[in-house]
Amino acid sequence: MKKYDVIVIGGGPGGYNAAERAGESGLKVAVFEKRALGGVCLNEGCIPTKTFLNSAKIYSHTLHGDSFGVTAKDITIDHAKVVSRKQKVVRTLVAGVKMKMKQNKVDVISASAEITGRTDEGFTVKADDEEYIAPKLIIATGSVASIPPIEGLKEGLESGFVMTSREILDIKKLPESLVVIGGGVIGLEMACYFSTVGVKVTVVEMLDRVAGNTDIDMSRTLMDIYQKQGMIFHLSSAVTAIGKDSIKFIKDDKENTIRTDAVLISVGRRPSTEGLGLESIGVYTERGSIVTDEYLRTNVPGVYAVGDVNGKSMLAHTAYREADVAVNHIIGKKDRMRYEAVPSVIYTNPEVASVGETEQSAREKGIDARTVNLPLSYSGRYVAEVDRGNGFCKLVIDNKTNRLIGVHLLGSYASEIIYGAALMLETELPVEQLKKVIFPHPTVSEIIREVLFHA
Ligand code: NAI
Repeated sequence: MKKYDVIVIGGGPGGYNAAERAGESGLKVAVFEKRALGGVCLNEGCIPTKTFLNSAKIYSHTLHGDSFGVTAKDITIDHAKVVSRKQKVVRTLVAGVKMKMKQNKVDVISASAEITGRTDEGFTVKADDEEYIAPKLIIATGSVASIPPIEGLKEGLESGFVMTSREILDIKKLPESLVVIGGGVIGLEMACYFSTVGVKVTVVEMLDRVAGNTDIDMSRTLMDIYQKQGMIFHLSSAVTAIGKDSIKFIKDDKENTIRTDAVLISVGRRPSTEGLGLESIGVYTERGSIVTDEYLRTNVPGVYAVGDVNGKSMLAHTAYREADVAVNHIIGKKDRMRYEAVPSVIYTNPEVASVGETEQSAREKGIDARTVNLPLSYSGRYVAEVDRGNGFCKLVIDNKTNRLIGVHLLGSYASEIIYGAALMLETELPVEQLKKVIFPHPTVSEIIREVLFHA
């Protein structure tokens, strides 16, 4: 039996960061990964989609460069090359994670781990017929794509007609048409890529809006932009069946059929705990998610759960922070997890980034708040770089405390600006104080300063 101080199950952002943190604190650590180090984020999620979307952006900029004085002929997109570049980027970054593990003396075990029970010395884990034991266990097994019970879906996935976000990142040839089931984050990012490179994209979404809990004006603007580019949206539409070359959905009590070359199913993700052996030590779950507290502890002392598997916020950056907090708890360093200022980004073109309360969520929570909204045309850099852009920035301010409780941005660089807004929320500084922050000029980020002065 191999002994460790900490066993981490899962090598995605939550798991590898936990292993790195624990390793650098001098603990003896093993991390188990059954697929590829880096997890979904690095291998088939965040990073690969960003390579796709950057190719789409370059393509689109070149196509529409005329008004900027840039003309080019015979512009084409070579999707196979986009995919091979993606693979190269993934290989480079996975190698970087491997290096980090080595530097921190973490043992990486490429096998599926199962928790088998506990002894006086700790929790036992089995992988490839070997036994391992550690007094602390960090579960970071992530999530898998939800597959709803839609008629024909299983067969569609088997035949390759239907893909999840995993398979679609490896197709070598562009389909002529694509139906995206689910207009959430994955659906919109994929729709953005495929539509930009010339695929006829139709999004079928069950709710009456896309982009889930995003600020409603952002959701509408984004949809408007994509509709103008030719994307078709069917909202309040429930997919009922998938055939060999079509899908059926119900809208306003009417059944509709769309013929398509390919289908992407992106209707959410669920925590991955199958075959993990949670029951052997009695870890408590609720609707499939491992229940954790502000220190990422489960109900079993010594067992922590970080990342998508606890279902709190299925984002890689939340997982990173949760991993820090869990390891800090293990080593006795004061820390706790806060979820109030977790930024979220949709990497469409334009990007959508937000942190904190939306106008709607503040209202639902009964917070007396005001909303101030300005178009990005107030930013000199934005106007210099974007023709007829309809980006905007919305701030939500608590009237009682005069503190910023939400920042929402739609436009270029939004993903890179939002961390500054997260810092504003995290530090809870009053608006008067925030007005003293000096922003570099000219930048799109200055819009936050501008809106603060309109607040
Ligand atoms: P999601 O929860 O964002 O969106 C799923 C959408 O599918 C919802 O709008 C839902 O109403 C709709 N839906 C559900 N069942 C449906 C049905 N039968 N027919 C039509 N529509 C249906 O989930 P998504 O996009 O799959 O992403 C999964 C997770 O991955 C999310 O938690 C997300 O935060 C994370 N992610 C984050 C990214 C980012 O931060 N940029 C990028 C990609 C994923």
